[in-house]
Amino acid sequence: MIAHVLGARPNFVKAAPVIAAHNREQRLIHTGQHYDERMSEVFFRELGLPEPDVNLGVGSGSHAAQTAAIMVALEKEFIERSPELVMVYGDVNSTIAAALVAAKLHIPVAHVEAGLRSFDMTMPEEVNRRLVDQLSNLLFVTSPEAVGHLAAEGVDVDRVHFVGNPMIDTLLAHLDSFDTEAVRAAHGLPERYIVATLHRPANVDDPQVAAGLVKRLHEIADLADVVMPVHPRGRRVLTEAGLDDHPRVTLLEPLGYVDFVAVVRGAVAAVTDSGGVQEETTILGVPCLTLRPNTERPITITHGTNRLVTPDGLVSAVEQVLASPAGEHEVPPLWDGKAGPRIARITESWLNG
Ligand code: UD1
Ligand code: UDP
Repeated sequence: MIAHVLGARPNFVKAAPVIAAHNREQRLIHTGQHYDERMSEVFFRELGLPEPDVNLGVGSGSHAAQTAAIMVALEKEFIERSPELVMVYGDVNSTIAAALVAAKLHIPVAHVEAGLRSFDMTMPEEVNRRLVDQLSNLLFVTSPEAVGHLAAEGVDVDRVHFVGNPMIDTLLAHLDSFDTEAVRAAHGLPERYIVATLHRPANVDDPQVAAGLVKRLHEIADLADVVMPVHPRGRRVLTEAGLDDHPRVTLLEPLGYVDFVAVVRGAVAAVTDSGGVQEETTILGVPCLTLRPNTERPITITHGTNRLVTPDGLVSAVEQVLASPAGEHEVPPLWDGKAGPRIARITESWLNG
């Protein structure tokens, strides 16, 4: 039996096509890291994910408290169920917790989205990624440079498989469902708008930093309407900094997957610090301005529509994007909607020895 460990919103989007592609007994363990209906359940419904077999219900907490709670609950689960493989996704606390517990129990680990590196150890995700990759027996990478990163860290390249991007499998599988007109009508959105999402600790935890970003978002709202589905992490700090105090800023609750991508697809640009949004805009051809000093997804810059911007550079970047429509862009190699089946094929043949 393969145990898939999922906990946070991006995990659900990545795991759906991988789970669907397997022909083996599977068990879906939800750690409960994300628990709001709009951060969790909606994805299971929309993406056809099976109901979790168990939800560990760990909820929120400090890094140590959350990671430790997941580990304690998973240790019990893995001992009781003896999975032949634990499959983990991305770089969230649920990912490192599961990999660490499995490795100590001598259960092989497969990591989906291995080898991405921002080289910024102040990001909790970078710590998680590096450690998970050291613990993994099968490493599935979404873009070619990841193979080099893993080799440089001493990972045996025989364990590394370049399979493409399961998040893009999900996007391509739902292309016909993204109805921008319907979502615009449902939420009363303007014709022309910029979509914004912010949730990185470096952007939304410190009230002063958040206030600086709100000022910049208001400046771009002077140029074009801004639509922002607000991640719960930054809700209080951004609201207290007055995010809503601009007539052309529309704040929304976190959206379900289909509505969210429909909003992105209809936008003139995305302003974001999300990993997934950098990848989705690359395929949708929507210009993406990433409010971060670095990215672990450089292929979205070299092949896609992504650009890193500083808060001070945001307004002029938006002016440029509004003045010139997105040019031609390439699709990154193997972002073809077939990553899930590739992962399943390799995993099953590995398990069959
Ligand atoms: C987590 C991941 C991050 C990922 C993001 C995707 C880690 C270290 N971080 O960040 O890499 O990009 O998910 O969305 O794993 N909260 C709610 N409801 C929920 C979930 C969270 O209100 O359903 C609030 C709580 O106040 C919580 C805060 O959001 O303390 C942060 O949640 P947490 O899971 O710790 O990290 P994220 O910021 O969501
Ligand atoms: N997403 C969504 N609704 C939202 C915001 C995001 O459905 O309101 C989806 C979107 O597909 C995105 C994914 O959730 O790529 C992961 O989002 P998030 O930005 O939270 O995480 P990250 O990719 O930065 O880890």
